Amino acid sequence: MKPLRVAVFASGRGSNLKALLEAIERGELFAEIVLVLSNKADAGAFNIARDYGVPTLHLSQENFSSPQEFDRAMLSALHEHNVEVIALAGYLKKISSTIIREYKNRMLNIHPALLPSFGGKGLYGIKVHQAVLDYGCKVSGVTVHLVDEEYDTGPPILQRCVPVEQDDTPESLAARVLEVEHKIYAEALQLFAERRIEVRGRKVIIKDAPENPN
Ligand code: GRF
Repeated sequence: MKPLRVAVFASGRGSNLKALLEAIERGELFAEIVLVLSNKADAGAFNIARDYGVPTLHLSQENFSSPQEFDRAMLSALHEHNVEVIALAGYLKKISSTIIREYKNRMLNIHPALLPSFGGKGLYGIKVHQAVLDYGCKVSGVTVHLVDEEYDTGPPILQRCVPVEQDDTPESLAARVLEVEHKIYAEALQLFAERRIEVRGRKVIIKDAPENPN
């Protein structure tokens, strides 16, 4: 079996990217991050990618004359690196239907709450945790899900709960949630690496691990 070829799309600091690279180093994730793509030239994720010798690509819609041309550039980079799976990790731009269709059931996103609550357009970053606290929730969590053509609506692959503490601030809750994000994203990708994911309608079925993986 060959390592799963993953592209990570990130707009920000890239802590999930780092967690994936560390999981690969520890031998917990049988994958290779073959490309880190960002719409932001100064994304922290690029520094992490460079530290690990991962190719980077800055792609901004502003530098293209049409959305179609932008999509073509994105697709050709994905093909050039033989990307099998795309992992969105804090990528704040909507991905076009062309790319989503091409990577149907092979594009993942991580969201710092239990979807379908506290998701959708505009609910990202600290706003998610603020909304969870404003509602008075006792638990929050993490969702890794497949990407469809809307924001945060694709079927969940893995979800995990995180308790909300009485004295939480959005920042303290975010930090507790992030620790779980850093574990669960590698776990979800490992299921893809082991070819254990089957999608039936909205249900993501996790197949049993083979008795003898060789
Ligand atoms: C994470 O909280 C992730 O759940 C959300 O965006 C944030 C990205 O953080 N989609 P980082 O750039 O990976 O540190």
